Parts: sequence; structure tokens; C-alpha cells
Amino acid sequence: MVIMNTHLHYTDPFILTIFGASGDLAALKLFPALFALHEQKRLPKQYIIIGYARTQMSTAEFREHFITVVRKNYSGQWSSVQEQYVKEMTEHLEYFTGQYDAEADFTRFATFRSTLGLPIHCVQLFYFSVPPSMYGKIADGISTIHTNTDPIRLLVEKPFGDNEASAKALFDSITAHFSQEQLYLLDHYLGKKPVQSIVGMRHSNRILNTMLRGEELQSIQISAFEAQRVGKRVGYFDSAGILKDMIQSHLLQSLALMVMSIPVKGTAENIRREKAAVLDSIEFIPDPNSVCIGQYDEYRTEHHSVQNSKTPTFIAIKLHINRENWYKVPIVLRTGKSLNERHTFMVAELKKFDFQPEDHEPNRIVIEFAPQQKISIDLVGEGGAHESVQHMTISHPIGCGEDTCLPEHGLLFLDALRGEKKFFLSIHEILACWKIVDSIEAYLATGAVELEMYASGSNGPKGQDRLLATEHSNWYDPHNNLS
Ligand code: BG6
Repeated sequence: MVIMNTHLHYTDPFILTIFGASGDLAALKLFPALFALHEQKRLPKQYIIIGYARTQMSTAEFREHFITVVRKNYSGQWSSVQEQYVKEMTEHLEYFTGQYDAEADFTRFATFRSTLGLPIHCVQLFYFSVPPSMYGKIADGISTIHTNTDPIRLLVEKPFGDNEASAKALFDSITAHFSQEQLYLLDHYLGKKPVQSIVGMRHSNRILNTMLRGEELQSIQISAFEAQRVGKRVGYFDSAGILKDMIQSHLLQSLALMVMSIPVKGTAENIRREKAAVLDSIEFIPDPNSVCIGQYDEYRTEHHSVQNSKTPTFIAIKLHINRENWYKVPIVLRTGKSLNERHTFMVAELKKFDFQPEDHEPNRIVIEFAPQQKISIDLVGEGGAHESVQHMTISHPIGCGEDTCLPEHGLLFLDALRGEKKFFLSIHEILACWKIVDSIEAYLATGAVELEMYASGSNGPKGQDRLLATEHSNWYDPHNNLS
């Protein structure tokens, strides 16, 4: 019998309004996640999802669009059962055409919503699935129909701002209308099961947590390789670049969970406080051996609009944690598009003993987010009849269990409905991440590091190796390993 986790259900009526409902993020991530919640019967009988976007569409057309994209992006085998569920779900969907910066449209929206039959005093989520430049305007619009005491929650995607100063200004402009409690700053990496498990594993496991101390480690590495090209998102991507797209939140947040101090009580407040504290202490030391940037060879020819673009599609950076026991541990993060495969993993590489030869493989803890979700411990030892080097890999899945298999946004939607902020970001963390990213940007702007071209389908620019060249370490290659 499957016992459902009660925190993975929501039973009271709610209204979810999605700004940007006709866009790609909604189609690729949000609608499939909402469908998974409905299919797994985790939603109440009464709820309404309102798509709000500029595109002219009727509710009937929106419902058709929803069915099409959910069918297309469904992760399992689509059958008549799913067909029936999705049709049944569309009864909960409505659509409203409006601009994001027109007060009159928000007033019309409020009137439209009041005709739909749910009390506006039920929990209401507003999801900002729009380009970041729209966030402030939408918050202004919502403030014309709601106050900071209404039971509303604003779910805002990363990137929040474009640098530390603009993130602060955006935060101030939103909190001029709403309380911090109403703001849910979202990074979907924190909805990934392996990422969420890091805290729990470290909290409950002394073996693991003892190994994850600065004095024990040779390096920490995080790699997020994507085979996908930039594709239709080029407009956004070319102005953001890979540093802001992937490092600013996804990889720095994952890192923070791995290296923060573990609070005794794992409340949202405590976890966010510890993450913020460690992020505050992370430094980038400007040096050509601390960063490598690349662009895949077909990026400019694929997109006429970016023919002369110098936007990196790959980056590797080296950071340090300004804390006594961590200072000498290089933290290297790398990520890129159009690489040889999709593979995301974090590696804690343990120190060798002084008497061991340089080429002796280190012991490691590897947490893989994609394509598999698992934790592995690589133990390397000498032994056996011929004193040969032996590898032993202990590996265990840390993906979703039978009763918790939900897409990232599904888990985060449920948390937001329940008012649980453990896996949402605080503004303090966001500003700390921007501070790191701003210092890297400022260094890159000096031109001290050249953009290297790399072949699509390769594992990125050669220059990434210089980050570890003097660190007695190498990038972990998951294919050279038994895990
Ligand atoms: C998004 C980035 O936030 O995360 C994308 O904007 C990236 O560029 C994506 O591809 C990666 O997420 P995931 O869950 O596929 O690893």
C-alpha cells in the first residue's frame, strides 16, 4: 500500500494565476507539473488555474493548448487514462488576455476572477512566468487589486534582477506593496529531489557530514552539462549569458546546501540563514586561472540576431570560501550548452594521505542530479594479492520515491500552497549570489580572459583544465568511473 505523504497534498480551495501562460516555461515545466499534481490526486476538488497573458486566446483555446503541451511533455506513457484526467482537469482552467503593465487590465482581471466562483479569500498564488523585466510591473499591477494583508503569494522565478543593485531595487519595489512573507523566490533546482536530499542526508548522517568538512576535502566540483542548444531562448540567453542563467542561482544554491553549516532544526528560517551565511563568505579571486569562458561553434550561425555575440555559453569558475577550514579548498563550478551530454553532478573529492602518490585516485562522494538521481561513494584502496588499486563504489538512488514522484515545480507549488518556504530563496541569499556573480562579471569585463570557441558535442573549452592545474586535482569524469 502506498501511504501518501500529507505534506504532498493540498486540500483547501485555491486560485493560481500564471502570468506568461502562453509561453515556453509554462508549456515545458508548469503545465506538466500541475497535471502531475492533478493526476496524482494531490489537489483539492475546488481550484482554478487562470492563464494570464498578452496573447489573444479564448478559454476553450487555452484548454486545448494545455492538453496539447501536457500530452507532448508527459514523462511516462500517455494512455486513455491520462487523456481522461487531462480533460477533466481542463474544467479548472480559465484564460484572461491582458497586458502586464496596464492597471485597467488588472481591474478587468479582478472582475473576471470574481465571476469564477471561488472566494478571493482562499489562498491565491500568482506565478511570474515572464521575462524578468516584467516582474516589477506585474507586482505593481497586482498591488492595484490586493494589499499586503491578503492571502496571496507571489512566486517569482530566477533570475531575480540583473545584478546586486537591480535585485535590491526590484525587491524594494515589490516590498513597497507586499510583505516579504508574501514573496516566494523560486529556483526550480531546489525542487529537485537530490538537491532537497542534501540537507536531510547531511543532517542525519554523521559519516557523510564528517567527510564534507573543509579540512577533509581536496576540492568541491559541480558540473551541469547540457546537450541542448540555446534554441528559441536566444533573445533572453544572449543578454543573460551562462553565468547569470546557471551559476547565479542553480549552482550556487546547490553548493550552499553542500557546504553550509547544518542547523539542528531544519526549519526554513534556519536553512536559509545558514545558506546565506556561507554564500556571504564565498569569494572569487580575479585571476585568469579562476575562470574560463567558451561559446559553442554554431551559436552565432544558428541565430542571425547574435552574429557578433561574445556571450559565453560555457563557463568554469573557481571560488573560495573565506572560512578557516575551507580557505584552501578550491570550489570549481562549470556549466555549458551544446555539450556532449546532459549530466549534472556534484563531487566532494577527499584529500589523499601525504604518503600517497600524486596519481593515486581520490575517494569521492558524488551526488548526481541528472540523468540519474543518486549518491555514490567511491572508495579507492590498495590491496588484493598483487597490491593492485581497487575501486569500490557504493551507490544509492535519491530520486523520487513511489509516493513522491513529482516534477520540481510540482513540489514547489505544493510548498507554496502550504506556506512552506524551506526550498524558496531569501533575498539575502539572492543578493549574496549576485555579489559573487557581479565580481566575476567585472573581472570578465576587463578582457583578461578570452572567449574560447568549442565544438558542439564536445565537453567544452580546453581552458577549463587550467582552473585545477595547480590544485592537485582534475575534473571528475563520470565515465572513467565505476559508479
Ligand atoms: C533554467 C535555465 O533555469 O534551467 C536553462 O534558464 C537551463 O538554461 C535549465 O537549461 C536547466 O534546468 P534542468 O532542470 O533541466 O537541469
